[in-house]
Amino acid sequence: MGNSGFLATLLLPTFLCVNLFGGFVDGLGVNWGTMATHKLPPETVVQMLKDNGITKVKLFDADSKTMDALSGSDLEVMVAIPNDQLLAMNSYDRAKQWVKKNITTYNFKGGVNIKYVAVGNEPFLKSYNGSFINTTVPALQNIQNALNDAGVGDTIKATVPLNADVYNSPESNPVPSAGQFRTDISGPMTQMVEFLAKNGAPFTVNIYPFLSLYGNDDFPFNYAFFDGGNPITDNGIKYTNVFDANFDTLVSALKAVGHGDMPIIVGEVGWPTDGDKNGNMANAQRFYNGLLPRLAANTGTPLRPGYIEVYLFGLIDEDAKSVAPGNFERHWGIFRYDGQPKFPLDLSGQNQNKFLIGAKDVKYLQQQWCMFNPNAKDIGKLTDNINYACTFSDCTALGYGSSCNNLDANGNASYAFNMYYQVQNQKDMACNFQGLGIITTQNISQGACNFIIQIASSSSSFTSVSPLMVGLAIFLVLTSYLLI
Ligand SMILES: *[C@@H]1O[C@H](CO)[C@@H](O)[C@H](O)[C@H]1NC(C)=O
Ligand SMILES: *[C@@H]1O[C@H](CO)[C@@H](O)[C@H](O)[C@H]1NC(C)=O
Ligand SMILES: *[C@@H]1O[C@H](CO)[C@@H](O)[C@H](O)[C@H]1NC(C)=O
Ligand SMILES: *[C@@H]1O[C@H](CO)[C@@H](O)[C@H](O)[C@H]1NC(C)=O
Ligand SMILES: *[C@@H]1O[C@H](CO)[C@@H](O)[C@H](O)[C@H]1NC(C)=O
Repeated sequence: MGNSGFLATLLLPTFLCVNLFGGFVDGLGVNWGTMATHKLPPETVVQMLKDNGITKVKLFDADSKTMDALSGSDLEVMVAIPNDQLLAMNSYDRAKQWVKKNITTYNFKGGVNIKYVAVGNEPFLKSYNGSFINTTVPALQNIQNALNDAGVGDTIKATVPLNADVYNSPESNPVPSAGQFRTDISGPMTQMVEFLAKNGAPFTVNIYPFLSLYGNDDFPFNYAFFDGGNPITDNGIKYTNVFDANFDTLVSALKAVGHGDMPIIVGEVGWPTDGDKNGNMANAQRFYNGLLPRLAANTGTPLRPGYIEVYLFGLIDEDAKSVAPGNFERHWGIFRYDGQPKFPLDLSGQNQNKFLIGAKDVKYLQQQWCMFNPNAKDIGKLTDNINYACTFSDCTALGYGSSCNNLDANGNASYAFNMYYQVQNQKDMACNFQGLGIITTQNISQGACNFIIQIASSSSSFTSVSPLMVGLAIFLVLTSYLLI
């Protein structure tokens, strides 16, 4: 017995170290999007979340395979209703069916720990031209009322993840304290905030310092990060980064409609690693190395000091996402397409130079690549074939400022051919390209430009994910014939 005290003093420091240096940001969430040609099995992803101490996950639908994989885990889940379902949810009966099928089914001991329902995804985005303005608030009301009727409304709250473009400060007074909701949507925004307040639900906003930079070459570069940059002063408060300024603009907008103390969730925040001159590993690491220590320390913002509930965007790269916003869209993951970490990222907020724990037991296709045949004689059709390959696969890394932008012409062709070949699960036919492609077992990666091998996955078809792409491809092929 006498020895146990001695043992305890020996063990105590070790225990403390584990707590201090092995911890995680409290309640950190991630966004789990699945717009990929080759998806990791949901069980693999759930294990990866657990291995990295991530405790919350935000989804973009209520896919039953994903929900089954989350069953029995303690992970807190935000499930979602996509924008194209908002109109349907304007019927209260449909909303009740949705809640029954996608919420109450999982509401049992050992089921899914659902905390929120995201009604739509950035439905008031300016680029949607107002398509969802009239249907979002009624959908929100029906879903929360259906949750209430089902007896789960106390613990499960409906919210609408909105882009930060729903509020701004007037040009005459561009400071956070002057924040207000956009005038064209002030009606629905006020209604929404009042409904959220009545139900004790949070406001959800996606904040993207990267996009501030992307949209504006005059934007002060360092202000996008957290390590010092041209502060602006507002009522004596110094803002040194756009994240704080943006968040506090929302706090002021909420205050202006009488709800300055409404809880706010940051539904998405992150930095892409490719597809743009500012989208790279170094900038992503700099951004997260600023963000995570602040989250761990519950720094909050000047107007909202303390804990903020945050969901990083995103978990895994998605090679079938629309690139309408920009090529970077497919490169937001803190993990690559295959669930392997990209760069050192310390979720404990200590900025230790360590990597996340990657997905385990990932199965890959064969070690073989498709490349441009340097001995090909007739290269007249090369451009058409590259265009075809890139229409049905992800060539965004070839663009200006991206990781494969410095390849020569043959390298470009090989990159495109290989991406298509991998998407097509290395089918022999998929490396033909009218005699311009050949299969190789040599790793033809060049420097930072990785020629990938896809993962073996049951659900893999680029075309089924993106019917729009098929249309576009047919259009391209037709127009190229017309031009010849
Ligand atoms: C439940 O969610 C799934 C996936 O998002 C959706 O396809 C389905 O229509 C929903 N079920 C009902 C009854 O609305
Ligand atoms: C919005 O309007 C623009 C310009 O009229 C158009 O190009 C775009 O396709 C529209 N977007 C949607 C989602 O309707
Ligand atoms: C929304 O409702 C307003 C007022 O009833 C109407 O003028 C507008 O056209 C509607 N917008 C859409 C996209 O349906
Ligand atoms: C390779 O492709 C990229 C993207 O399409 C293009 O910018 C670049 O000029 C190409 N390089 C050569 C040498 O053709
Ligand atoms: C191919 O080589 C690149 C660069 O050396 C490397 O990062 C990548 O892991 C290799 N790929 C495979 C499948 O071995």
